[in-house]
Amino acid sequence: MRRSIVIGNWKMNGTLESSRDLLQKLRNRVDREGSRGEIGVCVPYVFIPEAREILNRSPILLGSQNVADQSSGAYTGEISARMLQEFDCRLAIVGHSERRLLYGESNELVAARFRQAIDSGLVPVLCVGETLEQRERGETFDTVLAQLNAVFARSGVQSLLNAIIAYEPVWAIGTGKTATGEQAREVHAFIRNKIAGIDEAVAEGLRILYGGSVKPDNARDLFSMPDIDGGLIGGASLDAESFLTICYSV
Ligand code: PGA
Repeated sequence: MRRSIVIGNWKMNGTLESSRDLLQKLRNRVDREGSRGEIGVCVPYVFIPEAREILNRSPILLGSQNVADQSSGAYTGEISARMLQEFDCRLAIVGHSERRLLYGESNELVAARFRQAIDSGLVPVLCVGETLEQRERGETFDTVLAQLNAVFARSGVQSLLNAIIAYEPVWAIGTGKTATGEQAREVHAFIRNKIAGIDEAVAEGLRILYGGSVKPDNARDLFSMPDIDGGLIGGASLDAESFLTICYSV
């Protein structure tokens, strides 16, 4: 049985004060009621030290929204996996579509970031997904496969034993247009089958999350689909009530 996980991706939102408030609310509720699956929050880098204090000894996992493709050195603006670990980060999103599309991160760069996370024991949350144009051209599977293959070439399929995949169709991110359960299921099944073709045990244990306009009112339907093991939540993770409702929908 795969344990489901819901991860909040705060992106570049909030202030120190609003972040404290949100984290405290999440922590209090989970302390009181426990959680069904796992819960994680990927906060902006500068809030990580504060988040670490607030989440101390909470089961809520702390994560970053990216990680450097190198271990240390002259890489201005980057944050290494080791640095993140020093602050008790357990998760690191890599290859989010905003990084790929707005900042030009290639499949190879994402694969290098993934590798750094794996090598230092952080759990990478590898985002894959097609744009609307790619979907309309019938290139959804090819796009996702190319994104996965770059990672397999660099780290091997076995690395997925310590990773999470998030399928996020770009056209559904922040648009309010959620993929239907069936659209999501189809791609999730494709990913799992591809991996099963190489290593069945890895495919069986791998958690594949759906992301893209998951809200309290559609979470349950999406999470009830076979092959969907939780969600990566953007906008709705900025509000404690919404995020917790989604977390308790697994
Ligand atoms: P959204 O973002 O939930 O706001 O659509 C999801 C994501 O980008 O991970």
